[in-house]
Amino acid sequence: MRRRKFIKNSLFGMMGAGLYTWQVEPFWVDFVYKKMHIKHLPKKLIGKTIMQISDLHISKKIDLAYLVRAMQKAQKLKPDFVVYTGDFLDYTGAKQFSRLQEVMKKATKGSIATLGVLGNHDYGHRWNDAKAANQVSKILRSCDIHILRNQIKRFQGLNFIGIDDYWGTNFHPSKVTKQIHSKAANLVLCHNPDVCDLKVWNNYQGWILSGHTHGGQCKPPFLPPPILPVKNKKYSSGTIDLNDGRTLYINKGLGCSSLQVRFNVRPEVTVFTLRKDYEVNKVKMS
Ligand SMILES: [Fe+2]
Repeated sequence: MRRRKFIKNSLFGMMGAGLYTWQVEPFWVDFVYKKMHIKHLPKKLIGKTIMQISDLHISKKIDLAYLVRAMQKAQKLKPDFVVYTGDFLDYTGAKQFSRLQEVMKKATKGSIATLGVLGNHDYGHRWNDAKAANQVSKILRSCDIHILRNQIKRFQGLNFIGIDDYWGTNFHPSKVTKQIHSKAANLVLCHNPDVCDLKVWNNYQGWILSGHTHGGQCKPPFLPPPILPVKNKKYSSGTIDLNDGRTLYINKGLGCSSLQVRFNVRPEVTVFTLRKDYEVNKVKMS
């Protein structure tokens, strides 16, 4: 009798965990709040917010209404800047473009600016379809989202530096990192955190916002995620001090790649409040 009860309870437990992983956590967005100290930040930007949204993975497999709902909720926080760190699509064909337009015209926008970079999935099959990536950029531009493809754009004295995707066909980071002015306020957007380990940074000091890993999507409690699409397995999610003046932040993404499953890795929207760098020392000294 006891054995039968144990098996029955175990089966119910497994079904509950499966249902939670499939139907609850993938839609349970975590709004994460952080401070971002930036050197040479203009006074007028202190206290302004940068919202990071990543890895939407728009496809026929994902509930588009969920993405729109999440971004409308994010919009209510009235971000000053919004940055998208790649993988807008799970690109499989041209039909995806209408879905992209449909979702992104309702996407969260910053009151000052909205920017982004592309991810590997925006480059289609084997991350090799340059035409698809160009079309993704064009559609996003029509939705007032500036896509930075090894480019810098300055808004109110803050430089946004966008590196095109590592696995795509337009990865030329040095082209843009050599233009970074160390006496300016800078922020880098770069989809794949593995780029941090390449010798392309030209002594850049400051923050790098990434996505790509989805935090592994599923992970056991207190243990690292078993699957991460990066070479450097330290690059899972959250804030990582690279110990050379650079700070990496990896957002866990809003959508799901391949399968709609998440366990112990909730989808994320990150809200950074801007602070001038000298305030760090002030706090430490007080
Ligand atoms: Fe992704």
